[in-house]
Amino acid sequence: MINIAILISGRGSNMEAILRAIKKKKIPVKPAVVISNKPDAKGLKVAQKLGVNTVTVDSTGLKGGSWEYDQKIATVLVENNVTPKNGLVCLAGFMRIMSPEFIKLYKGRIINIHPAILPAFPGLHSQRQAIEYGVKYSGCTVHFVDEGVDTGPIILQAIVKVKDGDTEESLSKRILKQEHRIYPKAVRLYAEGKIKTRGRKTITS
Ligand code: GRF
Repeated sequence: MINIAILISGRGSNMEAILRAIKKKKIPVKPAVVISNKPDAKGLKVAQKLGVNTVTVDSTGLKGGSWEYDQKIATVLVENNVTPKNGLVCLAGFMRIMSPEFIKLYKGRIINIHPAILPAFPGLHSQRQAIEYGVKYSGCTVHFVDEGVDTGPIILQAIVKVKDGDTEESLSKRILKQEHRIYPKAVRLYAEGKIKTRGRKTITS
């Protein structure tokens, strides 16, 4: 059985969608720990209510992409039995870049959700970028995490139509609904061993 850790920085609605799917026995994984880099992340309380162990690893003053910080995360993961052999690390609104050392350690075992159809609009404020660019469709992507920003092999995507008059908020809301659908699905595919990686491509069967 895969042990999963979910890393958050705030609201944690994707985390909640995954944890609820696990509770309903839709995903055969053990929810080992939720880790936040912010002590006041709202998602922490949600995870606790769902009976999941939570740990805060405060990142104040530690710049993104540093092994100094990620080493602390790695320690918490191993303490909770989410190892490079049996673990899956789900980034769910975790607002930090992971270091190359961490990515190497958990290679092929870190996934992320991004609120755009990658490779369009990577980085921050993707929904705003989509509106300002004038695209007619956007959506969300679950992908493996590599050393780049939102560049790893794509696992699942969902399309959302951009409506005339959409604001960043209204588009974000509709994209989020799809995020809550495809992120648990991707975790399930991973847990069932149904994701094969071929270079940049994944094949899900
Ligand atoms: C989501 O839109 C996710 O795609 C992005 O950050 C947001 C996190 O929302 N990476 P939540 O904390 O899961 O509610």
